[in-house]
Parts: sequence; C-alpha cells; structure tokens
Amino acid sequence: MEALWMIIICSLADLTESSKHMDGTVPCATPQVPEEVKAVEGEALYWPCPNSDCSEEAEHSLIQWFKNSSGTIQPITADERARVHHHGPVLYILPLTLNDSGLYITRWWEKNKTGCDEFKTELVVGEKFHTELKENSETVPITCPAYDNQTKSLTWYKDSHLIPNESKKTLYLHNTQKKDEGMYTCVCTWEHHGRHYNTSGSIHLEIKDPGISSIPKILHPSNNSVKFIDLGSEVVLQCSVFFGINIKQYCFVDWLRNNAELIEETGYTIHNWNERDTFYSSLTISKVSEADLQSEFQCKAYNLNKWVNVIITLKTTESDLLLVVTYLCTFLIVLLAAGTIKWFAVDLALLFRGLCFKLKKTEDGKVYDAYVIYQKDNVDEKTANFINRVLPAVLENSCGFKLYIHCRDDLPGEDCMEQVERVMKLCRRLIVVLTPGISQGQQLPTPHGYDWQVGLYQVLVQQEMSMILIQLGKMKDYSHLPLALQHHLQKTPPLKWSERSPHATSASSRFWKQVRYMMPAVPALLCPNFCSAKIRSYELSETCC
Ligand SMILES: *[C@@H]1O[C@H](CO)[C@@H](O)[C@H](O)[C@H]1NC(C)=O
Ligand SMILES: *[C@@H]1O[C@H](CO)[C@@H](O)[C@H](O)[C@H]1NC(C)=O
Ligand SMILES: *[C@@H]1O[C@H](CO)[C@@H](O)[C@H](O)[C@H]1NC(C)=O
Ligand SMILES: *[C@@H]1O[C@H](CO)[C@@H](O)[C@H](O)[C@H]1NC(C)=O
Ligand SMILES: *[C@@H]1O[C@H](CO)[C@@H](O)[C@H](O)[C@H]1NC(C)=O
Ligand SMILES: *[C@@H]1O[C@H](CO)[C@@H](O)[C@H](O)[C@H]1NC(C)=O
Ligand SMILES: *[C@@H]1O[C@H](CO)[C@@H](O)[C@H](O)[C@H]1NC(C)=O
Repeated sequence: MEALWMIIICSLADLTESSKHMDGTVPCATPQVPEEVKAVEGEALYWPCPNSDCSEEAEHSLIQWFKNSSGTIQPITADERARVHHHGPVLYILPLTLNDSGLYITRWWEKNKTGCDEFKTELVVGEKFHTELKENSETVPITCPAYDNQTKSLTWYKDSHLIPNESKKTLYLHNTQKKDEGMYTCVCTWEHHGRHYNTSGSIHLEIKDPGISSIPKILHPSNNSVKFIDLGSEVVLQCSVFFGINIKQYCFVDWLRNNAELIEETGYTIHNWNERDTFYSSLTISKVSEADLQSEFQCKAYNLNKWVNVIITLKTTESDLLLVVTYLCTFLIVLLAAGTIKWFAVDLALLFRGLCFKLKKTEDGKVYDAYVIYQKDNVDEKTANFINRVLPAVLENSCGFKLYIHCRDDLPGEDCMEQVERVMKLCRRLIVVLTPGISQGQQLPTPHGYDWQVGLYQVLVQQEMSMILIQLGKMKDYSHLPLALQHHLQKTPPLKWSERSPHATSASSRFWKQVRYMMPAVPALLCPNFCSAKIRSYELSETCC
C-alpha cells in the first residue's frame, strides 16, 4: 500500500516536473537573435525550428511552440486538425491570416541535457509584397523568400507569367534593363498529409536609372543670406542641395556654427530628407540666443568629390525695422532738401547775382534789358496800371533794369516798323504781357501789330532772345493767340500777376523774384539810386505806332 502511494506520488511528482518543463514560465537560454519571416495572407506556412540542430535532433528532443499574443505566452497545439499547429520542430499555419503575425517561440529540451534553449521567430503576414531596389546593368539575384527544404517543386513567375525552366531557389537576371522591372513571384508547392499546399513569396524589382553625380550645388539659401528672427523663439534654417540625378548615396549635409559642427548639440536638431533629386536638411534652433545672433551658421554640402558651403546669419526683426525706418527718414530728408532747394532756387540765384553785382557787365551791344509788348487794342484800367506804373516801378526803379515799353519809349517821327526792328535788336529779353480782356466772356482779339510779329519771330524762330510771359488775371484759354505762342505756352506756363496780391508791387514778392530771375543777371542801369527812385509817371500815348 505504501509502495503504491510512493509510486503515485513519484509519478505525480514526475508529471509536475515534466509539465513544469513544458509550460512557458521556465526560463530558457536564448542563444540567437529572433529571425524574421514574411508570409502572404491566405497561403500556407511551413516553418521549421529556426535552429538546424533543433530540427535534426528532433527524435531525441522535446519541442514546444508558443505564441506571444498580447503579452501572454500561449502554447501551440500539436493537433494536426488545428489551423495553427506544430509537428515536432515544424510549425504549420494552414492557411495564414493577418492575425497570425507576431512572435513565435520554440523551446527545445534535449533529452540527455538539463535546461532548454529558446528560439524566436517574428512572423509578419502581409497582403503586400516587399520591394527590392536594384541598380541597372548588373546581374541581379532574386532569392525566393518562401523556399524550404521540403519543397517538392518551385516555379517562378514574372508579373503572373511563368518563367520557363526556372526552378531554383535563386533566380539570376543578367544585364538587367528597364524591361526587367516587375513583380517576381516564386511558388513552392509541398505536401502535408497528402494535401498540396502553396507558399509563395514575391519581390518587386525596380531598376534604377544610372545616377549622374555632380558637384554639390546649394539651391537654397543664397550665400551670406540673413534670416530675420525673434530672440528666444524657435528657428528653422533649411538648406536644399542638388547632388546629381538619381543620386541617393554619399550625399552629406552638415551644419556648422562658427566653424564648429553642430552634432548632438543640445538645442540644435538636424533633420535630413530627400525629395526627387533634391536633398533637404533643416537645422532647428529651439531657442535663439544672443550668441546665435553673433554667430555665423554654415550649411556645408559634400559628396566624395567636393564640398560647398553657404553662410547664414541671424538678425532680429527689430534691427530690420530700425533699418527700414532709417532708410525712410533719409529718403524723406533728401526729398525735403530737394524740395527746399527747388523752392528757393530763384531766391538763391538772385542772392548770388546780388553778391556778384560788382562783376563787370559783359558788353553785348545791347541797350535795353527787355522789350515790353502788350495788346494795345485790349487795354483796361488794370492792364494800363500794370504797364504804366507797376512794371517800370519794380523793374526799372527798384531793380535797375532798362525797359523799352512800346508806346512809352517810341521816338516820335521815326518810321514805326524801322523803329521796332531797330529797338528789338537792342533788347536782351522780350516781355509779353497777356491781357484777359475788358469784360468777362468777351471774344478776345488776336494780338496784332508789327512789334508782336518781330518779337515772336526773334524769340520763337531766330531764338535770339528769350521771352518772359506775364499774364494779368484769369484767362479762359489761349486760342486767340498765334499758334507758335500757344505751343510755347503749353510747355512754359506764364507767370501770373494778381493786382490783389498784397505784395503785387514789391520787388521781393515771389512773382517779381521769378521775373527778375528770368531777366538778365546784370541790369543795364545798375541803378545809382537803387530802390529809392521815384516812380516815373507817364501815360500811354494814344498816338504810338
Ligand atoms: C511578449 O510580448 C510582450 C509585448 O507584446 C513583451 O513585453 C514580452 O517581452 C514578450 N515576451 C517574450 C517572451 O518575448
Ligand atoms: C483578427 O483579430 C481581431 C481582433 O483581435 C478579430 O476581430 C478578427 O476577426 C480577427 N481576424 C481573423 C481573420 O481572424
Ligand atoms: C544520450 O546519452 C546516452 C548515454 O548517456 C548516449 O548513449 C546517447 O548517444 C545520448 N544521446 C544524444 C542525442 O546525445
Ligand atoms: C536544407 O538543405 C540544405 C542542403 O540540401 C542544408 O544545407 C540546409 O541546412 C537545410 N536547411 C534546413 C533548414 O534543414
Ligand atoms: C527548357 O528546357 C527544355 C529541356 O531542357 C528545353 O527543351 C527548352 O528549350 C528549354 N526552354 C527554354 C525557354 O530555355
Ligand atoms: C498551387 O499553385 C499552382 C500553380 O503554381 C496551382 O496550379 C495550384 O492550384 C495551387 N494549389 C493550391 C492548393 O493553391
Ligand atoms: C559663400 O561665401 C563664403 C565667404 O563669404 C565663401 O567662402 C564660400 O565659398 C561661398 N560659397 C559659395 C557657394 O559661393
């Protein structure tokens, strides 16, 4: 009875001992890194224990399979009817679903040894094929990813077309060209319990165009460029480089600060990426410091042949604003100065003439400074006042010019035409007084008279003297004037004199300054009683020529 109990206890102990061996909690040695196997959804998986010893010594071994599903180690059954089961060292999944992806663990107890070994397999079940990129013009080996030792037959397909006479694990393509691109699929057919299963693997082959390497060219930013930033903010500097066509290898971009490389410097992160044939690199400065502002950043691009660099400096936006304001102020000051000079040009010229009064008068054979013409048949009181009193008062008495006023200065008895021609030759300027007419809206008469003819001919055709146009009051248009004069008026508007202006008779008013500016620099008389002479009084004689 005791012996029986002993047997029962012993065999129970044995049982617990052996079951302890086989559950997932016992630590095993892990002699190799996990292998990865890729499989296609819907197909069958035949996966022998990833260690060859484990497969070969199966007879003298105890082998268990587990799956680590969501953190718990689940044993895999040996029941042949299960979709997922193992048969000794081989794991079968018939067929595969996407959920079968995960970590599979093989535990191997050798009968003669104590302890166990553990091998891991990472299964990735995918719908997609994986892609291999291959260079042009070389022998390309394509290895069937689904091949194993119990495969009975293997067939190769390219884009679903059978490749004849190819049944080896590795397919060799020679002198590959663009037409060789495509999906290569190997189908392994194998038998299990009298049933045939297929396992396939596919590789998408892309033939790369041969690359054309060039000297690195930094497309952006331009050299010695300035980036405007806010102090303390995050800033991203970006550099884009062209290394050649189809060039992905040996392209390097470094970032430097004051010639020191920025690698793993805290606060500076570098990120590189490719887009088509452009290589991008960005430097992120998490917080721009005062020191960064004083620094010189460099984007340095190089391949195996050459290197190029561009320099980038940082400036604060405030300094930018300051610059703009400075420019604006300078511009305004220049504008103001130009305006002032233009406004006071006449005054300056007159002042200058005043200072140079002592200069000798150039002898040009002329007697008068100006010949004054006006429309004799269109003289109202205002016009008469201007010509009789104001004009001589300012120009002759105050300023020392010598005028020839038609009618006033005519010599009685001389032939009118001869006189006009003779005197006109002795004058330096022609003063033309335009009169608006006696009543508003009146049809103005065309000015006539020999003095107008000769004067305008001298000025506009011969260009022997220059003309000063003075307009009294408002005029509707100049259509009554000779065409040549109208033309001249379009380019040079007349100086307008207004009787009502408080400085109408003051030589220092703006109007008279402009007239004086246009008159000869040195007055003919150099008036001895300068500015104190009495106004010479006279009346326009009705009998002038
Ligand atoms: C099982 O997976 C979990 C996470 O999913 C992981 O933390 C654990 O280490 C794995 N167990 C083994 C034995 O690899
Ligand atoms: C995969 O697992 C998810 C949840 O874990 C389940 O809803 C789904 O039905 C499973 N799919 C298959 C094909 O087993
Ligand atoms: C197990 O050990 C026995 C004797 O100890 C030996 O004869 C046998 O060859 C060993 N088996 C293996 C697989 O090492
Ligand atoms: C498959 O067979 C080859 C020789 O035919 C052998 O070298 C290799 O170890 C075997 N692989 C497995 C996993 O059994
Ligand atoms: C395939 O092999 C057979 C027999 O070896 C041969 O007759 C046939 O020409 C081969 N086909 C091709 C396309 O090489
Ligand atoms: C296995 O693939 C072959 C073609 O290579 C096909 O004729 C056969 O039907 C497939 N078998 C299974 C079970 O899918
Ligand atoms: C940029 O300028 C620096 C000096 O200012 C010079 O050394 C460098 O060669 C220039 N880079 C390019 C691409 O011109």
